[in-house]
Amino acid sequence: MLAKAPRGTRDILPEEVEKWSTLEAFFRNLCKNYNYREIRTPIFEHTELFSRSVGEDTDIVGKEMYTFFDKGKRSMTLRPEGTASTVRAFLEHKLYAQAQPTKLFYFGPMFRYDRPQAGRYRQFHQLGAEVFGSVSPEIDTEVIALAMDFFHSVGLNQLSLEINSVGCPQCRPIYREEIQKTLDKYRGDLCPDCQGRFENNPLRILDCKVENCQEITETVPDILDHLCSFCVQHFEDVVYFLKLLDISYHINPKLVRGLDYYTKTAFEIVDTGLGSQNSLGGGGRYDGLVETCGGSPTPGVGFAIGVERVLLSLEQQNIQTKLLGVPRIFVAALGTKASARGLQLMTELRRLGIAAEKDYQDRSLKAQMKQADRVGASIVLILGEEELEKGKIVIRDMVKGDQQEVDLEGVTDFLRSSL
Ligand code: HAM
Repeated sequence: MLAKAPRGTRDILPEEVEKWSTLEAFFRNLCKNYNYREIRTPIFEHTELFSRSVGEDTDIVGKEMYTFFDKGKRSMTLRPEGTASTVRAFLEHKLYAQAQPTKLFYFGPMFRYDRPQAGRYRQFHQLGAEVFGSVSPEIDTEVIALAMDFFHSVGLNQLSLEINSVGCPQCRPIYREEIQKTLDKYRGDLCPDCQGRFENNPLRILDCKVENCQEITETVPDILDHLCSFCVQHFEDVVYFLKLLDISYHINPKLVRGLDYYTKTAFEIVDTGLGSQNSLGGGGRYDGLVETCGGSPTPGVGFAIGVERVLLSLEQQNIQTKLLGVPRIFVAALGTKASARGLQLMTELRRLGIAAEKDYQDRSLKAQMKQADRVGASIVLILGEEELEKGKIVIRDMVKGDQQEVDLEGVTDFLRSSL
């Protein structure tokens, strides 16, 4: 018992930590390029923050929160997600008084008392981004682009972006009634959870995973046919901008998400090969949330990505090299002079942000090629005394297996433009 981590939690051992920090670094860099700034909020908050924002009738608030009373008898909860805390901080520190939009990102552990299984933990980690203060559909598209760019940057290219609109306080109540009207006659056939959802949260019935409920919901008309004209326009604009940015998507009218704060855009990024816990990330617009938390009406939109699921997906697809931060380039130099020039070249590459390594043991070319393979380099630069005299260097592509000779002086420019 003492030598076992609590159920649903995991140690991240040194070899894994390397992958985690690479993921974080990729995300940080990307956020910087997109002009998002990092925020760090407490691990626990007043329980009411989550019950009000995520919603009393959601599984998260109803069943999954780690709630406790502190010694001052205040009800506290370990954060089950990052959006509510970011909204709270946005209000508490009057970030709305700065030029809008406010664009923030975060990384950290979240806690949900869920049934643990592959890809589902009680302590898990999210990379997330939130934007406050803009109603523009361009911003919905920007946050989606940021999430998709992150997945592509770590090598996940086979994911499906599912998108929907969940409407707004004007059109959603009418659609809720429509669901209740359609499902009334099947009420007794729904799973016990959905029977509970029927009154309080009928939209959630649409994404119930129980087969029978899924069959029953086939009869429910699409939400996209019940949106008000503002929501239709917003959705069409988001889709238009996605096309403009060459981001593939799949419209899924059954996508409703498990948190109550969403309005208009809702999206999820799914790895279809990952089994039941296949959602790698999700998000959407939440134009009413800031007001729910006590602020003046302020639109918002964001997403969160589950780090454990990203790692699982990478592992399943055998994508490792990039994440280990392995040197992309190995400099194989032969002889003292060439080795010194190789050292210079390697340092130059490193300063350009290209991971590089060389041999320091005066090994034979054959041994150095083996070493390059072992460290996972995709390119080897071969520099012998002969090449050095000619002012040339050989570039060997370890993946394709071919090689070419180029001018030694121009090699960094050449690599920079071809990598
Ligand atoms: P969410 O869909 O609840 O959204 O979680 C986002 C991601 O966190 C999921 O797609 C999944 O990858 C990961 N995740 C969730 N629960 C677990 C778990 N028990 N174990 C492992 N991974 C998990 C949110 O949390 C929203 N706050 C996202 C958002 C931000 N919406 C707007 N802004």
